[in-house]
Amino acid sequence: MIVSAKEMIAHAKQERYAVGQFNINNLEWTKAVLLTAQECRAPVILGVSEGAAKYMCGFRTVAAMVQAMTEDLGISIPAALHIDHGSYEGAKNAIEAGFSSIMFDGSHYGIEENLEKSREIIDLCKRKGLSVECEVGSIGGEEDGVIGAGEIADPEECKRIAELGVTMLAAGIGNIHGKYPENWKGLDFAALERIQQAIPGTPLVLHGGTGIPKEMIQKAISLGVCKINVNTECQLAFAAATRRYVEAGKDLEGKGFDPRKLLAPGFDAIRETVKEKMELFGCVGKA
Ligand code: 13P
Repeated sequence: MIVSAKEMIAHAKQERYAVGQFNINNLEWTKAVLLTAQECRAPVILGVSEGAAKYMCGFRTVAAMVQAMTEDLGISIPAALHIDHGSYEGAKNAIEAGFSSIMFDGSHYGIEENLEKSREIIDLCKRKGLSVECEVGSIGGEEDGVIGAGEIADPEECKRIAELGVTMLAAGIGNIHGKYPENWKGLDFAALERIQQAIPGTPLVLHGGTGIPKEMIQKAISLGVCKINVNTECQLAFAAATRRYVEAGKDLEGKGFDPRKLLAPGFDAIRETVKEKMELFGCVGKA
């Protein structure tokens, strides 16, 4: 069932667990995430970056595929279709295409412009009953060619954006997209605490979920994180499983070249990764 993320995030905040956002890249990815969420009875958020939407032909194609897939597979757990790091235009296009949840990432603008644009997108989402995520303090690493330096969000700025009425807020706390470097200092929990104290009622989002040690994830949840985004880890698992299949020469045996066979190990690897994360985030059985 495609729904806004409002209720699932409010419930996660109340019961202190996190909902997983898993980014999707194609049909297999989407099916793997939805089936795992259904099996785990976990609410789930399907994340779609603008680059991934473009790869899949556009927001409308993605929205149509996800809607039809949930019906054909009989997915009864709540699933939100969410644009990840939407630009001002991208967020509007995703709203138009029928996404149920919107992220507007204005963190690269100055705070006044971020506020102004966030306010406009939040109002649009409210009118349509969609959940909305905004961002303060850009997340480090590279995503779709945008490189963020990994800022630590300012609690006052978080408060100003939160007061606009966001469903959830992404705040940089030393997290980055992609693999963490060897010398990564870890999440800045002092910063997270300051942010939580400034906006105790606002659910927080942790981006860059790949490779964050378990204890840090648990501590972040205890400090108000209600949504955790995972992308790269599923990609790595998919690639490794596909590599093993090909390196074992299985594509050359019988009809092993059939995409339904060739992509199966990667599909299973995504499912395992998603399940592992759902268990860690505490959202299993919450739907
Ligand atoms: P990772 O690719 O590091 O898991 O980050 C995902 C993310 O934050 C998407 O917004």
